[in-house]
Amino acid sequence: METNKVYLGDCIDIMRGLPKCSVDLVFADPPFNIGLKYDNYNDNKSYEEYYKWSEKWIDETYRVLKQTGSIYIAIGDEFAAEIKAILKKIGFHFRNWIIWYYTFGQNQRKKFSRAHTHILYFTKDKENYIFNDKEIRVLSVRQIIRDKRANPLGKIPDDVWQFSRVCGTFKERIGNHPCQMPEGLLERIIKTSSNINDIVLDPFGGTGTTAAVAKKLKRKYITTEISERYFDVINKRLNGQIAEVKRNKEEKREVESLTLF
Ligand SMILES: C[S@@+](CC[C@H](N)C(=O)[O-])C[C@H]1O[C@@H](n2cnc3c(N)ncnc32)[C@H](O)[C@@H]1O
Repeated sequence: METNKVYLGDCIDIMRGLPKCSVDLVFADPPFNIGLKYDNYNDNKSYEEYYKWSEKWIDETYRVLKQTGSIYIAIGDEFAAEIKAILKKIGFHFRNWIIWYYTFGQNQRKKFSRAHTHILYFTKDKENYIFNDKEIRVLSVRQIIRDKRANPLGKIPDDVWQFSRVCGTFKERIGNHPCQMPEGLLERIIKTSSNINDIVLDPFGGTGTTAAVAKKLKRKYITTEISERYFDVINKRLNGQIAEVKRNKEEKREVESLTLF
């Protein structure tokens, strides 16, 4: 199996070519089936089609994950319950239903702005899995108020995570892909659930955030992406060839309408 590689093609076909029990961590940020405009993927499938497709690709992740492996799936409100049920049915063990609260939600006129995504965290084994708590501890309230009972190492983060969305004008932003994940979020997941030299698989590459962070953290990566355009973007990002990002008018408008709480 070739690692540190971006594969162009359908993730199910590519995962079928990987040996079983060969991967330590899967992070998947599939299209949410909410009609977003991707390069060559139709994000508007029928309920049944999307559900069956989700079962198929999640089944493959189960096959390729090692027994000590973990999976995190980012998903919107529309299919979060279904994806959780599929994970359970396939045999994964539930760990957390994480809420990623993003500080830069998109403004709405006649409802509250959506400012979260679900991240479903499951492991293949019920007891035996990687959880590097020391790598990801954060300052606790007890530490802040100088309570003597505070653990000097800090605390394991809660299950609501705050990371800003990667908006159009952000330095981190790579081109015009509709849903680039923030590196900080991937950093937390990869540090928690893998060790140096472990293999991290992302079936839905997009702009290649998972692979880029895995590389920085000295993990091996396997990323698949169905669009040739995004595939090129990922390779450029990994080779350090993407520096400046163009702002288009739409993105500027989006930033102007931001509200902070
Ligand atoms: C939500 S985006 C992932 C964004 C990514 N997490 C990032 O930080 O840039 C989903 C990606 O999956 C790709 N995709 C859709 N269907 C696919 C398939 N069957 N196999 C591989 N990639 C697919 C889309 O082209 C899109 O780039």
